[in-house]
Amino acid sequence: MKIKIAPSILGIDYGRLNEHLAELAPYVDYFHVDVMDGNFVDNLTLGAPVIKWINTDVPLDVHLMINNPHKYIKDFAEAGAYSITIHAEASKHLSDDIQKIKDAGCKAAVSLNPDTPIDKISKVLPMLDMVLVMSVHPGFGGQTFMPEVLEKVKWLREHYPNLDIQIDGGINDETGQLAVKAGANVLVAGSYILKNQDPIKAIEKLRALKEYM
Ligand code: DX5
Ligand code: ZN
Repeated sequence: MKIKIAPSILGIDYGRLNEHLAELAPYVDYFHVDVMDGNFVDNLTLGAPVIKWINTDVPLDVHLMINNPHKYIKDFAEAGAYSITIHAEASKHLSDDIQKIKDAGCKAAVSLNPDTPIDKISKVLPMLDMVLVMSVHPGFGGQTFMPEVLEKVKWLREHYPNLDIQIDGGINDETGQLAVKAGANVLVAGSYILKNQDPIKAIEKLRALKEYM
């Protein structure tokens, strides 16, 4: 299994978004796009009309931190999402919403907040391409990694050896190592990459965690 690196673009300079993404593009597997609605989380970011203007060959991994995600899945698919992640806590009909993502031609993922148990998604797990285990309470970049969520990662890896397991929140080369040891293979990192003096070196350090798989 390969380690996949997904820089979160939450903290990027949106004034030169495409230029900045072009610099990182050769080194990454996905760009992680954080969509927040000021309702499911206390922060407001961007929506499909902006994502449409992202110009890159790197697949866009769209993390929807929004209520009623079913209303907007088609918009994000049409805006160019490769994968769409909805929150288990935000979806009223999880399996219907997952099916909607697949029908729109995207890979389907569900995210769990730090306090949400795996039981919440056990019925839909076989439908999923990826599970996102949040390692901070969603809403903001730059928060501290919560190691207690690694129990969920371990359980998922034991029961689903081929599933993409993504971890998001407070990831750097040290916390990333813990996550990879627990079984995560898709690493989202915002501050660690974008605020680094040398973002490409940061990406390479995360990729080197493969030895802990
Ligand atoms: C938090 C977002 C994350 C965030 C990660 O709600 O989902 O993707 O941008 O940022 P860092 O890596 O700084 O914790
Ligand atoms: Zn995210």
